[in-house]
Amino acid sequence: MLNFSKIINTILFSSILFFTACNDTKPSKNYDGKKLLEQKCTSCHNLNMPPIISKDELAPPMMAVSFHVHSFVKPSDESQRTTKAINFVVDYIFEPSFEKSFCDKDSLKRYGLMPSQKGNLNKDEAKAIAEFMFKHFTMENLTKKQKEQAEYDSKSEGMKIALKHKCLGCHKIDKKIVGPSFKDIAKKYQDSKEQIIKSIKNGSKANWEDSNGAIMPPFKQISDAELKTLSEWILELNQS
Ligand code: HEC
Ligand code: HEC
Repeated sequence: MLNFSKIINTILFSSILFFTACNDTKPSKNYDGKKLLEQKCTSCHNLNMPPIISKDELAPPMMAVSFHVHSFVKPSDESQRTTKAINFVVDYIFEPSFEKSFCDKDSLKRYGLMPSQKGNLNKDEAKAIAEFMFKHFTMENLTKKQKEQAEYDSKSEGMKIALKHKCLGCHKIDKKIVGPSFKDIAKKYQDSKEQIIKSIKNGSKANWEDSNGAIMPPFKQISDAELKTLSEWILELNQS
C-alpha cells in the first residue's frame, strides 16, 4: 500500500516536472561542477531536490531543467543522449533563445528568456556544470531523496528534535551507549518531566552509575517548546 502510493507519487512528480515547471563523458578536469552550479545558477534556478516549485520563481528548478533537457534532446543514437544534453546546456548558457528552450510557451512568457551568461563563466566551467547536472539531477536520485524525505516526515516530532540536536549520537532508544538509553531515562524519571528538561538544559554528570565518567553537555540553545516535546517523547517511550 505504502509502496504503491510512493510509486504514484513519483509518477505524479515526474509529470509535474514534465508538464509544468517550465516545463558519457569524463568530468572536466580542475573544475568543481557542483560548486560552480551553486555559484552561477542559484540566483535564478533552485537546486533543491525534491525541487521547490513556487509561484514567484524566476526560473524553472534545476531538477526540471535537467529532466526536460535530458528527455527532449534528440540524439541520433540513444547512447549519446547524455552527451547531447550536456552540449545543449553548454550552448544554452551562452546563447539562450526562445526557439531552443524546451520550456512550454506559458512558462516562457512568465519567466522571460534566460539572460546569456557570457562573461560570467567560461566554456570549461559551463561544461563542468552541465556534467554535474546530469549526474545529480536524475530520476533515480530524485526517487531516493523523496524516500528519505518521506521516512523523515513519518518520524514523531520528538524524534525529529532529537535528530536535529544530535542526541542520538550518545543515546539510543533502548540500549545504553555513551549515555543511558532513553527508555531507562524514562523509567527513572517517570513522574518528573521537569527533571528531564533541567538535565537537558544544564547537562548531567554522575547521575548514572554506569556512565564511567562520561558527562552530558548542556543544551542551552533548545527552545522551551522543543524541550517540552522532547521530554514528553522520552517519557512516552516508557510505555512502548
Ligand atoms: C538571471 C537568471 C538566470 C540565471 C543566472 C541562470 N538561468 Fe537558466 N534560465 C533562466 C530562465 C528565466 C529560464 C527559462 C526561460 C528559458 O528557457 O530561457 C532558464 C532556462 C534554462 C535552461 C533551458 C531549460 C529548458 O527546459 O529548456 C537551461 C538549460 C538553463 N537555464 C541552464 C542554466 C544554467 C546551467 C545556469 C548557471 C550557469 C543558469 N541557467 C543560470 C534564468 C537564469
Ligand atoms: C556527548 C554525549 C551526549 C549527548 C550529545 C547527549 N547526551 Fe544525554 N547524557 C549523556 C550522558 C553521558 C548521560 C549520563 C550522565 C550522568 O551520568 O549523569 C546523559 C544523560 C541524559 C539524561 C538524564 C540526565 C539525568 O539527570 O539523569 C537525559 C534526560 C538526557 N541525557 C537527554 C539528552 C537529550 C534530550 C539530548 C539531546 C538534546 C542528549 N541527552 C544529548 C550523554 C549525551
